[in-house]
Amino acid sequence: MSEVYFSNLINPAGGFCYHYKAYTNKHSWASFLDQSKKWQTQLSNQNSKLLLIGPSAGYSLSSQLLSKYNQIDVLEIDSLAKWLFKKRFSKHPNIKFSNKIYFSIKNDSFNLIVEDLKQIKKDFPQHDIFFCNFLGQLPVLNKKISEQDYRLFFTEELHKILSDRTWYSYHDIFSVHFKKPHEIELFDVSSVDYFVDKLKEYGRNHSLLKFEVIDHLTQMNSKNDLLWLWPITPKSLHLIQAIYYTPEQ
Ligand SMILES: C[S@@+](CC[C@H](N)C(=O)[O-])C[C@H]1O[C@@H](n2cnc3c(N)ncnc32)[C@H](O)[C@@H]1O
Repeated sequence: MSEVYFSNLINPAGGFCYHYKAYTNKHSWASFLDQSKKWQTQLSNQNSKLLLIGPSAGYSLSSQLLSKYNQIDVLEIDSLAKWLFKKRFSKHPNIKFSNKIYFSIKNDSFNLIVEDLKQIKKDFPQHDIFFCNFLGQLPVLNKKISEQDYRLFFTEELHKILSDRTWYSYHDIFSVHFKKPHEIELFDVSSVDYFVDKLKEYGRNHSLLKFEVIDHLTQMNSKNDLLWLWPITPKSLHLIQAIYYTPEQ
């Protein structure tokens, strides 16, 4: 087994552990997957080609959304995910996995993220672009990106570069990591502030429960965003934001 193949199977954002989590937590994932897929079916496409970035095996993708496109290009580094993705969407006639790697965590410069995004636009000139829980991972995986740079990228640069494209994303805003597994109590989230208040209340009501909160540097004001909770395991809860932009807006 080559080093690249092995490292892709155990990559920190996905890999074998991610598929194990998807399988063992399928009941607690159900509500999030439902919300995400419903949202996707309501989106309108601008192009007939779609680029998916980091979809893993497509656990949270709606087949109805994919069927609106006659070509799906995929950027995914996990070989097992690609295999499972192909099986899941075997009815789609035209799915292509790109071998080129963009947004490598080995990038040691923030500028490379911006350059990679511009390159993606050139390499996939006729595609709508869907970031599949990817944008919140970048600053966590790549410690060389400064908080200030990433916030600026997320709130401004990304929008400027993609201003003439239809693009959408769901991504982590915060992830909460509990020291002990337990049945996480879920609630509807109306705003990020509401989530933070509820989390403080959660801490007060469960005083023995220690947890750490990771900020994924993706907070921004958006008029048509949606917020969902995703309990990934009995020890982790993610606050997910979904956004959609199209040039006609
Ligand atoms: C947090 S997982 C999200 C999985 C899936 N989208 C979901 O929501 O269930 C991030 C995914 O991005 C993939 N990934 C990480 N770095 C990547 C890169 N540079 N290019 C493409 N995919 C990448 C990982 O293999 C993983 O499947």
